[in-house]
Amino acid sequence: MAITPTREDKFSFGLWTIGYNGADPFGGPTRPPLDVVDGVENLARLGAYGLTFHDDDLFAFGSTESARQLQIDRVKQACADTGLIIPMITTNLFSAPVFKDGGFTSNDRSVRRFALRKVLRNLDLAAELGAKTFVMWGGREGAEYDAAKDIRSALERYREAVNLLGDYVTDKGYDIRFAIEPKPNEPRGDILLPTVGHAMAFITTLERPELVGVNPEVGHEQMAGLNFAAGIAQALYQGKLFHIDLNGQRGIKYDQDLVFGHGDLHNAFALVDLLENGGPNGGPAYDGPRHFDYKPSRTEDITGVWDSAAANIQTYLLLKERAKAFRADPEVQQMLAASMVPELAQPTLAAGESYDDLLADRASYEDFDTDAYFGGKGFGFVRLQQLALEHLLGAR
Ligand code: GCO
Ligand code: MN
Ligand code: MN
Repeated sequence: MAITPTREDKFSFGLWTIGYNGADPFGGPTRPPLDVVDGVENLARLGAYGLTFHDDDLFAFGSTESARQLQIDRVKQACADTGLIIPMITTNLFSAPVFKDGGFTSNDRSVRRFALRKVLRNLDLAAELGAKTFVMWGGREGAEYDAAKDIRSALERYREAVNLLGDYVTDKGYDIRFAIEPKPNEPRGDILLPTVGHAMAFITTLERPELVGVNPEVGHEQMAGLNFAAGIAQALYQGKLFHIDLNGQRGIKYDQDLVFGHGDLHNAFALVDLLENGGPNGGPAYDGPRHFDYKPSRTEDITGVWDSAAANIQTYLLLKERAKAFRADPEVQQMLAASMVPELAQPTLAAGESYDDLLADRASYEDFDTDAYFGGKGFGFVRLQQLALEHLLGAR
């Protein structure tokens, strides 16, 4: 039974996702190109609230001024007609041959200057279209060969670029924040800022760190073997979850960009539970767009494209419903308490307690019975996880 999405759910899609024509390194397109107006109309029909795009998704790289403007006017009109908004835009610094060694971090300085100009121009467009988030995915910012890239210089150039963009939006008075999207590899052998953790550490080196957060993608963290929901929890903890790319991935392999939930469903459940119920008062922990960055599989026709777009939304809403039931279940509450999950929120030292007090507290060490932990009471985490699974399966 389908759950109907509303605009308040904030579902958004990249134009490059629904517009993916099926081309991969082994074969050409299997579907005709999608027109942006068609895309906007169908997303509105499916209950999405937003469309996102790279500059080059909307108007081809190297477009004339008038061809570019025509497409901008068309997307504006389509949004006005349907009520869709453009919450995020991003710049393609990876497809054109000029970016074969990257944009911000190409060894070739003139390419770096060209990349900066392309991004500045796209920032003006973002401001014009009302986009509040500007994603930076550095797909080509990386290398295949250790000898070919001085990583510290590359990071310094990355930093120079992001600092310049921060100055630009500040001077122009644009209400725009940046979100760096990590990915470990593909298309480069190794990409700079490969995980959420690397990106958040890099952000602390910037001149305006408050303007910059992360746009983690489910599949990208999972390509690195990491727990996505746990990474998101840390991004939230550090106030850096500015945007999110939802999709599905099955293990450490190429970037699959499957429908959300068509990968590690347990982790997708944990993620939705975190986003929707993990706030300080049990409410949402994140109020930004629920952005799907998936690829409708190459096997699908245009009906399959819209079915798969709808599947992303449906999976999210089903998981949201399941996560709510999980939280409301008294047995779950009881198991959480038995597993001492809430106790972790309690500070380890008492208010005002010093290390001297701790050293003087014989109960904490000298008299503490560590032997009781052998064969003693377990935490019951498995039972708790099984309850989660039963809710996830709709069995409770
Ligand atoms: C990928 C990336 C991209 C980015 C997009 C936004 O692996 O292909 O996820 O889809 O999200 O380029 O900048
Ligand atoms: Mn991806
Ligand atoms: Mn992405």
